[in-house]
Amino acid sequence: MTAETSKTGPRFLRALAGEPVWPPPLWLMRQAGRYLPEYRAIRADATSFLDFCYSPKATVEATLQPIRRFGFDAAILFSDILVIPDALGQTVSFETGEGPRLPPIVDASGVAALRETPDMDRLAPVLETVARLKQDLPRDTPLIGFCGAPWTVASYMIAGKGTPDQAPARLFAYRHPELFQRLVDRLVAASIVYLDAQAKAGVDAIQIFDTWAGVLPAGEFERWCVKPIAAIVAGLRAAHPGIPIIVFARGAGPRLVGLEAATGADALGIDTAVDPAWAARTVPATTVLQGNLDPLALIAGGAALDAAVARILAAARGRPHVFNLGHGILPETPIEHVERLVALVRGSPA
Ligand code: CP3
Repeated sequence: MTAETSKTGPRFLRALAGEPVWPPPLWLMRQAGRYLPEYRAIRADATSFLDFCYSPKATVEATLQPIRRFGFDAAILFSDILVIPDALGQTVSFETGEGPRLPPIVDASGVAALRETPDMDRLAPVLETVARLKQDLPRDTPLIGFCGAPWTVASYMIAGKGTPDQAPARLFAYRHPELFQRLVDRLVAASIVYLDAQAKAGVDAIQIFDTWAGVLPAGEFERWCVKPIAAIVAGLRAAHPGIPIIVFARGAGPRLVGLEAATGADALGIDTAVDPAWAARTVPATTVLQGNLDPLALIAGGAALDAAVARILAAARGRPHVFNLGHGILPETPIEHVERLVALVRGSPA
């Protein structure tokens, strides 16, 4: 038995606890989804994407599909960050090929119309999915729960959709800072309730997605990205002190420095644009890094993929690292390239 296999527990959780597990555990953001033919097949049966998200039968199956096919080191609950606005009473829909649509919040009446707390009846199917997955997943495959960070979720609630730079929410926050603060506070409270319920239902780790963190200037980054995430982490830890928390602030760049201390995260996701060697040198050795293969390198495959993976593995060596993409896997990704990625990471010599 090697030193590594003598340690106990799933490799993903050991890495999140700060152990330099080698080869690093591997999962992919958006690992369940449209690049998988078996996902497209079950998705075709659903009337809408949100109906799919609220059907435990569908979401359990979608979560398990990439685990069966690739044996990733962690599963991520199949759901969406926008179930929170939906549960606060702002109806969410998804237009095929166009992404999410919400009735935009343009003034105080839009914030006032939201529920104080999320409708947990609406979210009950998500929690049922977690409970069923705890039964159905292989015992050594931990389950990741998640929510969107308040800034990112609010940016969709204000714009009513995704935009290239989430300018509507940035303008709203400049023009109506107190009102925007009220919205963010509502999302912090809702996220704590939601993540607490996920943890009680059995998730083993949490990821907070701040997809749009990178568009914020320094002061706004502190106020709308860092502080609300720190409040969620503190709130969740009060009830679940040991649960590992990954913060993915996409576009944080040099602001990754100190982000683990400022938010209380155990692990920081790094996006595609971050040099993994810089992150490894700069972020404390006790902070776990997660990332950061370019999803386009995974589409390209071949020498580009091999070189990109080697670069990340070189940076990750000797420290706790979770291998992942720098953003979600794209629908065009060939399955064979994912297989190649798994072989490269798993085959990395000790
Ligand atoms: O990672 C996983 O496999 C779990 C499932 C998951 C989804 N969305 C499923 C999904 C997760 C973790 C998310 C998070 C999410 N959702 C984020 C943060 C992470 C990121 O990628 O930036 C954001 C910003 C959203 C909001 C959202 N949901 C958008 C902008 C879109 C449309 C864009 C797109 O990729 O189509 C979605 C839809 C969505 N969420 C799909 C999936 C599989 C595709 C819809 C479909 O299958 O019809």
